[in-house]
Amino acid sequence: MNYKELRLVINSAKKRCIRSLTCRLHGNSPYMDEICQPSGRLPGKPVSLWIDTTPDIAFPCLEGDTDADVAIVGGGIAGLTSALLLKRAGLKVTLVESRRIISGVTGYTTAKITLAHGICYSRMLNKLGQEQAGLYADANRTAIERVASFIMQMNIACDFTPLPAYIYAVTEDKEAEIEAEVRAGEKLGLAVSYVDTAPLPLPIKGAACFDGQAYFHPRKYLLAFADEITNENGRIFEKTRAINIEEGNPSIVRTDRGTIRAQAVIIATNYPIFDPLKLFAHLTSVRSYVLGLRLKNRSPQGLFYSNEEHFHSLRPHYLTDNGTYLLAGGEEHHAGQGGDTIQRYKNLESYYRGFFDIESIDYHWSAQDNKSADLIPFIGSLAPASDRIFIATGFKGWGMTHGTIAGMLLSDLILGRSNPWKNLYSPVRLNLPASAKSIVGQNIQTAKHLIGGHLSEESIKSLAEIGKGEGKVIEIDGEKAAVYKDKQGKIHALSPLCTHMGCMLSWNPAEKTWDCPCHGSRYTCDGKVIHAPTVKDLARIEL
Ligand code: FES
Repeated sequence: MNYKELRLVINSAKKRCIRSLTCRLHGNSPYMDEICQPSGRLPGKPVSLWIDTTPDIAFPCLEGDTDADVAIVGGGIAGLTSALLLKRAGLKVTLVESRRIISGVTGYTTAKITLAHGICYSRMLNKLGQEQAGLYADANRTAIERVASFIMQMNIACDFTPLPAYIYAVTEDKEAEIEAEVRAGEKLGLAVSYVDTAPLPLPIKGAACFDGQAYFHPRKYLLAFADEITNENGRIFEKTRAINIEEGNPSIVRTDRGTIRAQAVIIATNYPIFDPLKLFAHLTSVRSYVLGLRLKNRSPQGLFYSNEEHFHSLRPHYLTDNGTYLLAGGEEHHAGQGGDTIQRYKNLESYYRGFFDIESIDYHWSAQDNKSADLIPFIGSLAPASDRIFIATGFKGWGMTHGTIAGMLLSDLILGRSNPWKNLYSPVRLNLPASAKSIVGQNIQTAKHLIGGHLSEESIKSLAEIGKGEGKVIEIDGEKAAVYKDKQGKIHALSPLCTHMGCMLSWNPAEKTWDCPCHGSRYTCDGKVIHAPTVKDLARIEL
């Protein structure tokens, strides 16, 4: 599909009201407990534009035991695309989501639909060769076309807008990378060209311009999927946490609300909650930040991504009834190692104020994704550990195409159809030994969960030093504790050890969460799981 054909998609997509529900504007994230709501020390709502401008829909919880042909764990783009395609093939599909669908990583994406993934193709050509790099390009190009054809076929009004994507350099020493990326893209048959300038107000030293890319509103798009999935043959259960998966015939997904017996299971939880191949040893979790800006002037028309060591990312979003935004991102860091995350938003603000005339900052949000050692996602079956369980992970921040690829590839594998991308994305391509060692070097002893009796003077002083709305790992009478003091001054003390593999958690002041530096598990300020791989809440400490 070329640029002109992509334009036809937006022109032909008729407006469709999803479930006839009125859009409720959320003042805060509806997915965070009241006591953990961010304190408002930053401008704009602490929620994504996508969640704030779509209906607050709800699906029921699972109650009791049930059967399905395919059980899917995770209600983001990978899970919902897989569910739609399998349901269309006539299979009985059951999807469970621990919180609300499209409220995790997919709800906090910047939603660029692009195959321009930073400096990507030149590195792939060098490391993997032309065939593999070509398959990667083909998979992502097909995913863009597939998204466009879903929108056209289902008449989804999701602000789909075709635009070119620019990978740009801001310093001369990075210009050669851009030239190499253009040469690599041309070698792979991509519609890419070298340009000296881009429609940006900041000085650049050249860019690779990819034609035929696009953006959209991911929740509007995927709510239409949920609508069709649940029409017949498909069920979605929310607030239903999968806590264990037993491989067999059938396999069993155990949740906190009942079990699902299924012939095939897809784990699409961003970071896999079931990991017999020990892929965690080959995945790195990273977080990054976004500001939803309104500009005094027109937003730049394009999808932009710099090749700096720490990227900056820009793209406009046009809402038919509410003006144009510029989504400005960056400040990437390893999950759980963000330090003062409030300062990271401030850094973004001062950086972008240097180039844009900002009318207001309406939103701020952050997102997390993980990348594999060879920068190719893991999508496929877990054979030889299990040929009935499938995963999709390691999208490295490019989830709109990779989530769509996951849906296409996993549905083909489950339906017994051949797929050209199977080996490229195979989770066992690295020949992982079953006993692959964890990258976790930290202790995994369990915390003492009861610190009874009188607290020492020193412990009382440490507790008093924590401000309202703040969290800190402190020592209380010889035991470490993750302590959060809510706005009323009430202390919430938790085990500071991640329930996945025992790493010490760190406090994220901007999001008011406890984050794990090892594999990216995250918890609310009062210890409830909000991000895999863990499935278990933090233990409370009684003071
Ligand atoms: Fe693995 Fe925390 S996520 S130890």
